[in-house]
Amino acid sequence: MKCNMVDKLGRTIDYLRISLTERCNLRCMYCMPEWGCEEVKNDEIRAGEVVALVDIFRKLGIKKIRFTGGEPLLREDLGEIIREVKKFPEIEEICLTTNGILLENKIEELKNAGLNRVNVSLDSVDVDEYKKITRGGDLNRVLRGIELCKKLDVKVKLNGVMTNLTGKRAIYSLGEYALENKIDLRFIELMPIGCGKDLKGYSGEDILEILRKKYTLRDLDHLEGTSRYFSVDGYHSRIGFINPMSQCFCKSCNRVRITADCNMKRCLSADDKISLREILQSKSEDSLLYIKEYLLGKNEENSFFKDNVIREKMNEIGG
Ligand code: GTP
Ligand code: 5AD
Ligand code: SF4
Repeated sequence: MKCNMVDKLGRTIDYLRISLTERCNLRCMYCMPEWGCEEVKNDEIRAGEVVALVDIFRKLGIKKIRFTGGEPLLREDLGEIIREVKKFPEIEEICLTTNGILLENKIEELKNAGLNRVNVSLDSVDVDEYKKITRGGDLNRVLRGIELCKKLDVKVKLNGVMTNLTGKRAIYSLGEYALENKIDLRFIELMPIGCGKDLKGYSGEDILEILRKKYTLRDLDHLEGTSRYFSVDGYHSRIGFINPMSQCFCKSCNRVRITADCNMKRCLSADDKISLREILQSKSEDSLLYIKEYLLGKNEENSFFKDNVIREKMNEIGG
């Protein structure tokens, strides 16, 4: 059986985000508590499960896979997973979201395995500020990883979450770094998930206004996935905004998520999920239909402003 998943709002679900681990080698203040999480849990999704699940989801119309976490580069078997997923002809793009600390060690192997694109989370290009936000991260390692991606011709984007931990200066310096190095940069609004509930974030509009004091930005006037992009006069790369809090983009949502403990979530902000491990173990012919039916009941919009508490943390869901 092969099909596409189009829900009642006309949204085609063709993008699968897989959190490979909730472990991380950083402790970003808006994401993880100081004691963090480094030990491999018994229920961490296994390589065989990832491949078996992609095999199911490709038959349901999934074309794009993104590996996230936690920090997906902590998975020693990531190269092997990518190599296996690459064999499925329906999968047109394999992407990675990473903090970049281990990029310089791993990107060559991953590119050879079939990785197409990398998004690097980077909230500051000041060594001390970066160390503070990440509780100890080494900025220069990340920058060397980004350089190596460029050298190897692997497309990179930057994701920055701006909070009261950094301030306006970081917005300018991050913008300048991205523009000077011809890399697309997106500012993401802080979401009230995990430790994100305890900080104050900048809205996309605030950041836009700040950047406009220094640069001429032109609205490219379309939504690419979750991002609204602007060109910048005199530069080759774009600045984008992911504004889940101030500009709901749920109408165009095309994604489904697998969490690090092998459950499926149909919305980042929803608190319901189903066990994919049970589905894999049942080996039932009806698995595809069951997954499809659940997915097509996807909520119409996020619940950030409702009373229900999002119990999981960002590193478990994978952003
Ligand atoms: P591209 O394929 O390069 O467009 O990347 P992406 O934006 O799909 O993925 P990435 O992992 O880089 O996501 C960037 C940020 O957007 C992360 O912080 C996510 O938490 C957030 N994000 C991604 N998808 C969604 C979504 O469906 N809803 C909400 N609210 N936030 C999302
Ligand atoms: N709000 C917005 N983005 C977050 N991330 C982690 N926690 C939050 C939050 N509460 C981002 C990271 C990374 C991506 C995977 O999720 O910065 O870019
Ligand atoms: Fe999709 Fe939920 Fe994100 Fe909205 S909040 S874009 S419905 S995953």
